Amino acid sequence: MKKIIIDTDPGIDDALAICYALSHPQLQVLALTCVYGNVATSLATDNALRLCELCDSSALVATGASQPLTITPHPVADFVHGSNGFGNVTLPEASRTPESLSAAELIVKLIDENPGEITLVAVGPLTNIALALELSPGITQKVASVVIMGGTFHREGNVSPYAEANIWNDPHAAKLVFNADWPLIVHGLDVTRQITFSREYLDHIAAEKPVPGTFLRNAAEFYIEFYNSRDSINGCCPHDHLALAYVTHPEWFTLESGELDVITDGEQTGRTLLTQNTASSTQAIKQIATDVDSEKILEDYTDILTANHR
Ligand code: RIB
Ligand code: CA
Repeated sequence: MKKIIIDTDPGIDDALAICYALSHPQLQVLALTCVYGNVATSLATDNALRLCELCDSSALVATGASQPLTITPHPVADFVHGSNGFGNVTLPEASRTPESLSAAELIVKLIDENPGEITLVAVGPLTNIALALELSPGITQKVASVVIMGGTFHREGNVSPYAEANIWNDPHAAKLVFNADWPLIVHGLDVTRQITFSREYLDHIAAEKPVPGTFLRNAAEFYIEFYNSRDSINGCCPHDHLALAYVTHPEWFTLESGELDVITDGEQTGRTLLTQNTASSTQAIKQIATDVDSEKILEDYTDILTANHR
């Protein structure tokens, strides 16, 4: 079993990714730590609790930062994810409340308690991860790796010609996280835009496994409408899922390594850069994903969501 923490802003593609992780027999999700982005942090936290209930999971849930480190917050993405973050589809209220520790505190505590074992998967703006680094810089040496959905290196951005939403929402946090000395693998739009979940694909999952499939299918309708009107795609890009799929199947991805950086002001704010590696051999490797086996991703997602693992 791989131990993971998911830092997230649920969010429809976050929900698709979280349900995969909570259904996966080889993943132990220790915690969902929540951040603003697709919705406000309080709603992200409530959504994470509801998803745990839907998937019958006892993963810890903690609430995190409610705004970026430096910049004025951007508006939430209700035009992409609906005003409740789930395409205006309602899940039953959760019976439990979040942990008393903040997201950053919980991340540090769990990494300290499980040295070398935790993969930190971040699929929202990187504020909580930057705050965890500030709280305990030593976590860089104790985490197994950090896997991020964010940025774009060879493709256009989705919130500006240069930037992807998660990085654009807190470019200063992203810069800190990119520059920390820990093994980092970044899944940007370069790979996440290679996969589409169509209506028919999600219909099939819902028919095979109504829980959580029906909720995911219904929530995704709003997200698919958005993609359809903006990009004329019949389906949606499950961005956040790519980070989870990498944790379970790194062999399906092509990676490039180098130095990572983020532009934090001006017209290109949020732009992510990969430059030639000048790091010493003792420093942790930074990689980006450039290609993915999309057939394998689609097959695996269906298998995990429809099997009776748990
Ligand atoms: O750009 C895609 C990312 O932005 C995903 O994490 C999605 O959930 C949104 O937050
Ligand atoms: Ca997200």
